[in-house]
Amino acid sequence: MAYNITVKDMLPSQMPVHIGFIMDGNGRWAKKRGLPRKFGHREGAKTFEKIVDYCKEIGIKYISFYAFSTENWKRPKDEIEAIIDLFRKYIDDVREHIDKDVKVIFLGDKSVFDDVLRKKMLKLEEDSKDFTTMTLLIAVNYGGRDEIIRAVRNVAIQYKNNQLDISSINEDFFGKHLDTSGIPDVDLLIRPSGEMRLSNFLIWQSAYAEFYYTNVLWPDFSPKELDKAILDYSKRGRRFGGV
Ligand code: IPE
Ligand code: IPE
Ligand code: MG
Repeated sequence: MAYNITVKDMLPSQMPVHIGFIMDGNGRWAKKRGLPRKFGHREGAKTFEKIVDYCKEIGIKYISFYAFSTENWKRPKDEIEAIIDLFRKYIDDVREHIDKDVKVIFLGDKSVFDDVLRKKMLKLEEDSKDFTTMTLLIAVNYGGRDEIIRAVRNVAIQYKNNQLDISSINEDFFGKHLDTSGIPDVDLLIRPSGEMRLSNFLIWQSAYAEFYYTNVLWPDFSPKELDKAILDYSKRGRRFGGV
């Protein structure tokens, strides 16, 4: 007999605490329709909003989205501009998109953005810092290696200023110097569009993440697809090196 279990029937212990999303396949979605790639990004942004809402509805505590990588600067200028414009617009309208109880954190090096955008990002982080229902992490100009290098630099400065004893450097200490300081590791990492790689996303934080791949392109990703991923996750045996 087939059981029709949904995520709403699941025990909290079966649910991932932190889900990461590599929002991939926007370009292919547009190409399939004979449209310029930026239309795929526009559609992908709508999916992002839908998935944020759904994660909140089902009680996920932490969600991370890969929006723009440190490697994506290799793309044509007009495509980069289209993505950054969508991001800018999202920040401007963010209050309409998310409820007041969502904490927003940006992952990545903000220093490349213009003053206006950077200040808006910082203000949103500051204004939402006490909200606890859900934490939304958005990775822009983010690369896992870049994040680790920036953390190493901070640690080195502390050492240079005689503020650090080398024996206090451990995983916990180092984790606190990453952009995700205080955020639990990724439990479930979802990559649509058929690619089976990390592409430099949360490499430290996903050391023990369960991967879920699907051929669905990000603009077509839906709450139903997310349910499938979570149900699959709930059946995995996570051992963390134990038996
Ligand atoms: C992901 O979609 C969005 C970003 C990388 C910003 P892509 O633009 O990579 O879409 P594909 O992989 O070319 O289909
Ligand atoms: C990863 O997708 C980056 C984001 C989703 C922001 P890419 O499309 O850039 O990754 P690769 O090039 O296929 O590895
Ligand atoms: Mg891609």
